[in-house]
This record gives sequence, C-alpha cells and structure tokens, in this order.
Amino acid sequence: MLIDSKPTPEADARSLYRRLARLGDAHTYTAEACAGFAGDIATIRRLKRERNALVLAHNYQRPEIFEVADFIGDSLELARKATKVDADVIVFCGVHFMAESAKILNPEKTVLLPDLRAGCSLAESVTAERLAERKAELKQIYPDLAVVAYVNTTADVKAESDVCCTSANAVKIVNALPNRHILFVPDENLASYVQQNTDKKVIAWDGNCYVHHQITPEEILAVKAKLPHVKVLAHPECRADVLALADAVMSTSGMVDYAAKSADREFLVVTECGLSDRLLLELPEKKFYKACKLCRYMKMITLADTRAALESMRHEIVLDEQVRRGAERALARMLELG
Ligand code: 13P
Ligand code: SF4
Repeated sequence: MLIDSKPTPEADARSLYRRLARLGDAHTYTAEACAGFAGDIATIRRLKRERNALVLAHNYQRPEIFEVADFIGDSLELARKATKVDADVIVFCGVHFMAESAKILNPEKTVLLPDLRAGCSLAESVTAERLAERKAELKQIYPDLAVVAYVNTTADVKAESDVCCTSANAVKIVNALPNRHILFVPDENLASYVQQNTDKKVIAWDGNCYVHHQITPEEILAVKAKLPHVKVLAHPECRADVLALADAVMSTSGMVDYAAKSADREFLVVTECGLSDRLLLELPEKKFYKACKLCRYMKMITLADTRAALESMRHEIVLDEQVRRGAERALARMLELG
C-alpha cells in the first residue's frame, strides 16, 4: 500500500460514494453522481485557497455540501462563527437571512450566497413597515414592550427590533430582558414555546415555517406506536401539539449534540430532512427516523452553484449601511445576552 500517495479523483469519488451510501438514497447518490460531486469538490477546495474563502453551511444543507464546508451548524453557531472567521470571502450555504447575518457581522468581508432565491417562509411573513406599525400600536398599551426578532428575518426587520434570538436561545433571551411584555416575530410556534417557558407576556406574530408547521401529532403518534422506545427530538418551529409529544425540544445542533451524548440508540428527528443526513453520516452507530420534510429554499443551494459562486464571485450580499448597523445592534445584543 502506498502511504504517501495523493488520492486520485477516482479514489475521491469512490470514497464519497461509500460514505454517502449510508444515507440509503441510492437513486440520488449513484457512482456517476458522486464522480461529478468529487470534481466539484476538488475545484471548490482549490478556489477556497486561491480566494482565501471559507464555506459556512447550515445543518439542513445537502450532504455533498458538507464535504466542502469549513463549519456546519445551527443559526446561532453560524452567527457566532461569522464573528470569528479569518478569511476575505464567506460563501454561505444556507438561506438568505443567514448570509445577511454573516454580512451584518462582517461588513468588510465579501459574503456570497450561491442562489439568491434561497429565502425563508418565516422571513417573508414580516416586513419592517408592518412591524413598526404593530410596535407603535402595542407600545400604547404596553409602554415597556420589547421586540424580539427570530434570526429568520430580513436585516431591516432586525434593525426595527430590540434584540434577535435563535431557536437555541429564544427562551434565554426573552427571560434575560428587563421588559415584561414581548412582541415576538415572526414565528407563532416558537413564540408559543417561549410563552410556555416564561412568566412574561409574549405577543406572537402570525408567521410560521411551512416545513415545520405541516408536521402533525398523528404522524408522530404513528411512529411511536411502531417504535415505542424511539426518542422524539423536535424543533421549536413545530406546532405546540407536536412539541407536546417530544422527549426534547431543541435547535438543529442541539439535536446533534443530544443524539451524540444520549445512551439511547433510536431517534425520530422532527425537523427538516437534511439534519437526519448529517446525523446518519456522523453517528453511524445510531438509528435515525426522519419526518421527511424538505425545505425547498435550503435545497436550492447546490454544489454546482457553490462552485460557480466562487468561480465568478457571485451573488454578493449588499446591505444599506444604516440598516446594517441597526441589525448589527440587535444581533450583538443577542450574542451578549446569550
Ligand atoms: P436552527 O437555528 O435550529 O438551525 O434553525 C434554523 C431554521 O431555519 C429552522 O428551520
Ligand atoms: Fe425557513 Fe422553515 Fe426553511 Fe428554516 S426550514 S429556512 S424556517 S422555511
């Protein structure tokens, strides 16, 4: 066996094929598809060195994107990581609001999103104008009102808010504020989960995540009936009647951590499917059952577009400086409080 030999593109493709076979998706991850991915992966790694670029990827991304990611995480980890990266360029493999957060926290760096259509149903459900109106209305009734914006919002909505939060720290942030009345935007399900874990008054916006909101308690009960020992891990963007059936409610990275440390071996992962792919790849000794819901926005990001983003330095996130500063204040307060 040659110890110091460099892997050939064929050997890279074969090892990728073996690794991705664990996902049990033989139609997508064929030997031919893996050979194509291996070529893109090699090009992306070369371009990252040439451009002094880093790839940050959200947990829901496609498994082939994990191969080129310098860091994979949930929204909170990615926001924290974005304040520490030592690179000229950040390629964000996630959705638009996440890339925006990276730009808000790194105004001097070039932040690229491989596909600008990668939005979020939550971020679309609130505008800065509607938020300003609702805030003014509620302040007349509750003068101490604070606006807490889930990070799944646009930069101008963040700028209109007192502080941001993510699924990993929403309860902590709300409880850490001196205010008794909270307008929580835009996720009604996360707002209801926070309300259950605080004695403050939480006023919800009427947005939801179309991926999590469609999951029903009947689906969970059907799996539990067949697998009575399965541990149910649910994301707080799910409805309250779904969360009531969960053994643990947590962010996407919270689930990775929980499954890695738990003595249990079988888990039902109640969130977008991409997380189950990460779990299957990282914890092959455990069993994961998935809710099989895909986020069409997250899945708009492909390896080919990631390569194209680095090749032609597209699509750059550009923000109005006043909006950026307002949003930075709300994000910085979250990072301090959290
Ligand atoms: P996390 O911060 O838990 O990764 O969630 C982000 C998200 O968009 C969930 O749908
Ligand atoms: Fe937005 Fe839902 Fe997709 Fe997360 S899963 S990015 S909240 S639409």
